[in-house]
Amino acid sequence: LFFPVILAGGKGERFWPLSRQDRPKQFLCLDGSSRSLLQATADRLLNLGGGWADLWVITSSPIAQGVREQLPELPETNLLIESQGRDTAAAVAWTSLEIKKRYGEDAIIGFFPADHWIADQEVFAHTLDAAIQLASSKDAIVTLGIKPTFPSTGYGYIEQGEKIGSFNDLPAYHVNRFTEKPNRETAETFLSTGSFSWNSGMFVFRAGVVLEELHAHAPEIIEPLEKQGSDVYPQLPKKSIDYALMEKTSLAYVLPVAFGWDDLGDWNAIARLLKQENNPNIELATHVGLDTQGAIIYASNPDDVVVTIGLQDVVIVRDRNVTLIVKAERTQEIKQILKTLQSDP
Ligand code: GDD
Ligand code: MG
Repeated sequence: LFFPVILAGGKGERFWPLSRQDRPKQFLCLDGSSRSLLQATADRLLNLGGGWADLWVITSSPIAQGVREQLPELPETNLLIESQGRDTAAAVAWTSLEIKKRYGEDAIIGFFPADHWIADQEVFAHTLDAAIQLASSKDAIVTLGIKPTFPSTGYGYIEQGEKIGSFNDLPAYHVNRFTEKPNRETAETFLSTGSFSWNSGMFVFRAGVVLEELHAHAPEIIEPLEKQGSDVYPQLPKKSIDYALMEKTSLAYVLPVAFGWDDLGDWNAIARLLKQENNPNIELATHVGLDTQGAIIYASNPDDVVVTIGLQDVVIVRDRNVTLIVKAERTQEIKQILKTLQSDP
């Protein structure tokens, strides 16, 4: 029994002003297709062979209605609604408790972020089969490792240890060390050793295994949830599963994956995805440019015209009442500036 769960409670602030409180990133169509990130994630998980009855979504209350509208076939009983987002450790803990209650501790659960782009659905399905086999044969927290291409400080890093066998023809390794979002220097060191992969943010395990590991490493999250139920949610610490569990557990394993993958984390990810040959810029608007290169230009109103002269490596986004202009290398800081705006305009 395999239950895929979509983690759909993030705000996607680095995509502001396109993502707003009433329209977070997972509801946007960012890859040029007509399916939103959330819908594309559901399509990919349904393609693994299970039906809607096995698919779960955990999200926060302001966007629950949007999830219902985007995924009308999702059973209401499989939609968990957080009264307040407490990051992914609490989300994993609560969902795992609910699935265990309904299907027992041997139920295999997979957690999937809603903000990923995956190129090859066949290879994805093959890899997930391997992860499920590994999780059913061992007490394992299975991660999927992506071959790193640059010293990103936005990902978790997995150090590959001893090979423990092959599953579905894919080699599996014990994880020696997991480091979430290292600083630049550490990321560069990791990259140069060749034995690290990026954590894809997808996890597969049996319900009983993850709950036991949460008891050992994150009792401040699992114990109140177990004793008092989800009413305790607003009091839970805000921690991601990467810090709360992955950096601590010794049951982590990694399967190196070979499907094209990207975390659609900020505007630069869109640039990687939509790069047009022979175009020095990414144009998602009517753009007239003189001496402009490396610009990402987006306008939600098709009548808008954006004119630039002498610009390099900038992001320009026009959406409703907001225009954002930011150096491409500083898009991570959108998160910070949003804190200084009184409310999401
Ligand atoms: N339900 C719920 N509640 N979902 C949440 C919450 C929450 O409070 N916070 C975040 N999420 C969802 C997001 O919508 C996203 O789909 C997923 O959980 C991961 O959260 P991110 O905020 O996007 O995490 P990240 O990208 O910084 O880091 C994670 O993913 C990387 C790969 O994309 C980590 O697992 C890293 O180790 C990993 O490399
Ligand atoms: Mg992410």
